[in-house]
Amino acid sequence: MTLRVIRDPREMRFAAEDLRRDGRRIALVPTMGYLHDGHVSLLKLGRDRADALVLSIFVNPIQFGPSEDLARYPRDLDGDLAKARGAGVDIAFLPTDEGMYPEPPTTRIQVGEVSDGMCGDRRPGHFAGVATVVAKLFHLTKPDVAIFGEKDYQQLAVIRRMVRDLHFDVEIVGGPIVREPDGLAMSSRNAYLSPEERQRALGLSRALGAAENTFRGGERDAGRLIAVARAELADVKIDYVELHDAASLAPVARVERPAVLAVAAFVGKTRLIDNRVLTV
Ligand code: PAJ
Repeated sequence: MTLRVIRDPREMRFAAEDLRRDGRRIALVPTMGYLHDGHVSLLKLGRDRADALVLSIFVNPIQFGPSEDLARYPRDLDGDLAKARGAGVDIAFLPTDEGMYPEPPTTRIQVGEVSDGMCGDRRPGHFAGVATVVAKLFHLTKPDVAIFGEKDYQQLAVIRRMVRDLHFDVEIVGGPIVREPDGLAMSSRNAYLSPEERQRALGLSRALGAAENTFRGGERDAGRLIAVARAELADVKIDYVELHDAASLAPVARVERPAVLAVAAFVGKTRLIDNRVLTV
C-alpha cells in the first residue's frame, strides 16, 4: 500500500471504518511531527502489530502552556513523509487546527493521580490537553493498538489510565527510549539546542546513569538517589528530579519495587525531559 495523506477528520474516520470493515487491524502512532528515530522505532512496533499503520502528525495547541513553544515548534512535513514511507506507514493523518478544533473546545479529559507530580505539576493543563487530543485521535482513527514512547513516561501512564477508566477498546504499547550515541534522548526539541547547549544537555542522561549506578550499588533511599542525579545537573537549570512508583506513579521514599527516576531541565530556553526505570 502506498502512503495516503489524509487531512480531513471525516475522511480519516471513513478510511478507518473501511479498514475495520475489511477486517484489518489498525495501529496508531500519534506524534507532533519533526520525526526522529524515536518516532520511527514506534512506527516499527506498530507495523509489526497491525495490517494498517496510521501515523498522526498534529501539533496540539491545547497541550501547550501560554509561555511554551507552540509557535516555534519545529516542522518538516516533507522529511516526515519520507520517513513515514520508509517505515511502511499506510496513512499519514495530518489534520489542521480548524479540523481538530472547529470551535474552541470546552471539554477536557482530566486523568487523576497519574497526572500529579513531575510534568503534571510543572505544566498545568498539559496532560488534560494530551488526553483530550489522544481521545479524539482514537475516535477518528479507530486503532486496535496505539504506540507511545517511554521517553514521555508520565504521558504513557496517563494514556493507559484514560483507556482503562473510559473503556477505550485499544491496546496501549510502550516503546523504549531511543538515544543518540552519546546518550541524549532523542527529541524533536533537541533541534533548538546550540552546539554548546547540546553538550550541556548530556547532563540529563548522565544524571540518570549516575543515580542508576548508585542504585546498583545498593542505595535505595529516594532522597540520596535524587541527590546523586542533581549533582550531575550543575550546567542546566533543574525543573525537577523525582522518583515515582513505575506503575502507579505515586512518589516513593525508598525503592522497593520498580521505580522511575524522572528529570526535567532547561538548557538555555529549551526544556528537556528524560527518565530511567530502576528495577530491584
Ligand atoms: P511527540 O513529542 O511528537 O512524541 C510522539 C511519540 O514519540 C510519543 O509517544 C513519545 O513518547 C515518543 N518519543 C519521543 N521521543 C522518543 C524517544 N527518544 N524514544 C522513544 N519514543 C519517543 O508526545 C507527543 O508528541 C504528543 O504529546 C502526542 C502524544 C502526539 C499528543 O499530542
